[in-house]
Amino acid sequence: MINIDKKPNLSIIVAVAENLAIGKNNDLLWHLSSDLKRFKKLTMGHPVVMGRRTWESLPKRPLPGRRNIVFTQNTDFKADGAEVVHSVNSLFEVLKDYDDEVFVMGGASIYQLLLPFTNRLYVTRVYREFDGDVFFPVIDMSEFNLVSLSDPMFDEESGLDYAYEEYDRKFRI
Ligand SMILES: NC(=O)c1ccc[n+]([C@@H]2O[C@H](COP(=O)([O-])OP(=O)(O)OC[C@H]3O[C@@H](n4cnc5c(N)ncnc54)[C@H](OP(=O)(O)O)[C@@H]3O)[C@@H](O)[C@H]2O)c1
Repeated sequence: MINIDKKPNLSIIVAVAENLAIGKNNDLLWHLSSDLKRFKKLTMGHPVVMGRRTWESLPKRPLPGRRNIVFTQNTDFKADGAEVVHSVNSLFEVLKDYDDEVFVMGGASIYQLLLPFTNRLYVTRVYREFDGDVFFPVIDMSEFNLVSLSDPMFDEESGLDYAYEEYDRKFRI
């Protein structure tokens, strides 16, 4: 059973295609430098939580200036510069004294796992379908309020249209 008395203040941060694709071959589907800068700005100083596959996909790890927390079922797994957790309860335990925002940064399995405990979503919406092999879970959006929506933007380097959306859970958990 999951002990939600110790639940940290979780926010999901994700960049998602129109068909909910978020990655392929353990890599991202696009390079959007403005989104990466925004990711860095939002998450800097805060713990970031990720799955083992996302950890291994990082070009440079750990992400500097942030507590990196990695989920794996492998109890022998070592991640230099990161804390390793094996369950939602162990995540909540390592974060029990941290009151500020914690960012859930993927991948698909960790979004799925932590979505029920997440109060805020930072979504970069890429206005194109992609041939991915991992997908963001389908969310019941009636549980969330859209609290912020940027104007649509165009990235010259990638040729992609995108926008930033932020949602808050209506009934915080
Ligand atoms: N677009 C975006 O914003 C974004 C963000 C992040 C990642 N991504 C993409 O997403 C893909 C990776 O996602 P993914 O779903 O394949 O992998 P992932 O979620 O990053 O990692 C999966 C691993 O996490 C561990 N894990 C999962 N559930 C667990 C649980 N309940 N308890 C303990 N450990 C657990 C397992 O590790 P072990 O196998 O070691 O047990 C599992 O293999 C990549 O393509 C990446 O580029 C996209």
